[in-house]
Amino acid sequence: MNRLNQFFNSSIGKKLVMAITGIFLILFLVFHLINNLMLFGGPEFFNENVARLDSIKPLIRVMEIILALIFIYHTYTGLKLWWENKKANPEKYAVNANKENSTIYSRTMTITGSLIFIFLVIHLYTIWVKYNFGMEGSEDYFEVIKIHFANPIWAAFYFIIMIFIGFHINHAFQSSFQSLGWSHKKYTPIVKKIGTVIAIILAVGFASIPVYFFYISFGGQG
Ligand code: HEM
Repeated sequence: MNRLNQFFNSSIGKKLVMAITGIFLILFLVFHLINNLMLFGGPEFFNENVARLDSIKPLIRVMEIILALIFIYHTYTGLKLWWENKKANPEKYAVNANKENSTIYSRTMTITGSLIFIFLVIHLYTIWVKYNFGMEGSEDYFEVIKIHFANPIWAAFYFIIMIFIGFHINHAFQSSFQSLGWSHKKYTPIVKKIGTVIAIILAVGFASIPVYFFYISFGGQG
């Protein structure tokens, strides 16, 4: 047990935790995007799908708890890793340092990660709470999202955060392969490209939802 603790407290152990939890979170985002893109099928189609998921509510609850723990552990370990690296190499973290051998995506991981976590708390507090405790007998889940994004502040907030999510995943995907020890002269550039494609699909896919609802709220054709 002590050895296991020691391993998870080591820098390599923490990177491994980041990689494994990060891959789970990317998988969640892919499923979440597919679910949310059903909004484009219109109110009836979307509401029917949400109602269908109601039949497996207990399973969803268990998955939500696991997901919450993974999110919290991923953020906590990421911040701890950042703090320890900062203490160990203060000069590397000085402004303008180390720009040649790093990308803007890797340098901004802590800030984009923290913003995504703050977004998540706000997202759950507004949408998840409304869905699960604030429907007052209504089953029009589509309308909740429509009203939410009719507000330009919410639409803009989501749009901006989706750009940060794209930045974060663009680096996270290839970095998790490296942390797992899968680095290869020929395949690593391919992994990087796949990460970029996934990041773009997720960012553009999620961002299209507030843009669409904001557009139809102001008279566009739905
Ligand atoms: C336009 C973008 C998004 C929309 C419209 C959206 C919509 C929703 C909705 C409707 C729920 C409630 C589902 C339910 O309780 O049945 C939900 C939950 C949740 N969302 Fe999002 N979401 C978006 C983006 C995101 C992003 C980018 C993340 C992660 C960074 C995220 C993380 C979560 C989590 C963790 C839950 C709780 C678990 C779940 O119920 O699936 N969402 N979202």
